[in-house]
Amino acid sequence: MILIDEIASISKQWNQTLTALFKNDPGRASRFVAEGAGLRLDYSKHWLDSAVLAKLFDALEASDFSETRAAMFAGDRINTSENRAVLHIALRGELTDNFGVDGCSVMPSVIQARDQAYAFAEGIREGTFVGITGEAFTDVVNIGIGGSDLGPLMVSEALKPMIDGPRVHYVSNVDGAHLHDVLAALNPHTTLILIASKTFTTQETMHNAYKAKRWISSVLGEPAVAEHFAALSTNIGAVRAFGIADTRTFGFWDWVGGRYSVWSTIGLSLMIAMGSEIFDRFLSGAREMDRHFRDAPADNNIPILMALIGIWYRNGFGLDTQAILPYEQRLHRFSAYLQQMEMESNGKRVDRAGNSLDYDTCPVIWGEPGTNGQHAFFQLLHQGTMVCPVDFILTANSINTDHESHSLLNANCLAQAEALAFGKSTNTIYEEMLADGLSGSDATRLASHRTFPGNRPSSLIMMDALTPENLGALIAAYEHKVFTQGILWNVNSYDQWGVELGKAQCNALRPSFESGDASKFSTSTQESLRWLLEKKY
Ligand code: F6P
Repeated sequence: MILIDEIASISKQWNQTLTALFKNDPGRASRFVAEGAGLRLDYSKHWLDSAVLAKLFDALEASDFSETRAAMFAGDRINTSENRAVLHIALRGELTDNFGVDGCSVMPSVIQARDQAYAFAEGIREGTFVGITGEAFTDVVNIGIGGSDLGPLMVSEALKPMIDGPRVHYVSNVDGAHLHDVLAALNPHTTLILIASKTFTTQETMHNAYKAKRWISSVLGEPAVAEHFAALSTNIGAVRAFGIADTRTFGFWDWVGGRYSVWSTIGLSLMIAMGSEIFDRFLSGAREMDRHFRDAPADNNIPILMALIGIWYRNGFGLDTQAILPYEQRLHRFSAYLQQMEMESNGKRVDRAGNSLDYDTCPVIWGEPGTNGQHAFFQLLHQGTMVCPVDFILTANSINTDHESHSLLNANCLAQAEALAFGKSTNTIYEEMLADGLSGSDATRLASHRTFPGNRPSSLIMMDALTPENLGALIAAYEHKVFTQGILWNVNSYDQWGVELGKAQCNALRPSFESGDASKFSTSTQESLRWLLEKKY
């Protein structure tokens, strides 16, 4: 791909350090900043100057980015391998928004589905909808996996102070321990189970769903299933076959990808826990970011800048990973959420037409909240042999905690960004050790161990507080970053064929755990199975 080749060749001429960039350009800190939808992106600590940025913008302009962005907003079927539109933006839209597919507005049905989910959620919260014994629901268990779990789970943690309804729990893993440990603490009389699955065929979710059904019906009888279950799905037939009534089924559409579905009825657990007003505020923040992404010029467009910076490191410098480090404990599942959003979207090896790519696509996304990471893997970030760009996420104010802790948290964040960028030279370290009374030979021996090379890039993504609006905007910013990168890499960001083979192999292998015969599989798998069965109690 020409654009990626160009980026690679521009990067070969890059020879400036962050220290030099700041020294030679006093206005850099205030100029390399973008703002929109309540977020501030400080990208001054990156290996960029105005000339490089201009070339990256040129590359974007030379791509089909503008047309494809317009096509996404117009509801065109840009997910070509599945022949689907990509319209999660409509889920946070208003009636006046003109989102539609095949010339037909989707907004009336989006709003109707949202209103139905809100009405059900309010009924649960107010105690109008109760369990079969007439008791109000105190606990809601969302059974789902991937996009049907990570989004609602992450948001429920991020907005925890706003939970004023029933408690919410999330079960995803087919490992029986997960469901067991959640249900062990709950009372079937007062528990509502949500089966969240776009397809309603996902093995793990269906396995756990049937176990939960047995848990309810064994105590309350089969008729209780109708009162204690609801489904969030596009597969109405399969939901009916499971035994959930249409009135308890909250649908969405094939143009909502699983990893982009938290805005849909997949967010029902959040609506129940926090109420429709908070959920509306969450949607409105995302809507603001959609408008920012659609309308802001590239040099003040947060998702575009995030995307270009990521491509610059990935394809210009071959950097393999991207760390997401929120200095906000309540975002502790945010990097796991982004792992699915980014890696399932852009972890692709063929272009949109199916041709093999000869350049790298999505890096590995990983991360943990600060300050915990500082006492674990930051050693590598500061002194390891690889450079890993960082997204620091931080808030000016904390919700429900004391100012003192928050200042300490933020001081840590800014200090880490500063230390990564500017480091500390061997010479300075050496002089400091001499001043502290070390001998010349000890100082010489230790100086290189204690040197910080610096020049390690990071973004600061800042907001006033982790409000529902800002969280919505933050997630939407990453969604649009992923979209933009997908265009530049020329991949289809909205399919996920790479998950299929493992699922099929599991279905084929499952009977071998009973029969002991895995002869259709490799000798390696046969040996592992033999050992597992031999050790089985
Ligand atoms: O297998 C991957 C995947 O399809 C994800 O894309 C999706 O979020 C997850 O499984 C769950 O799918 P469903 O909502 O259909 O159960």
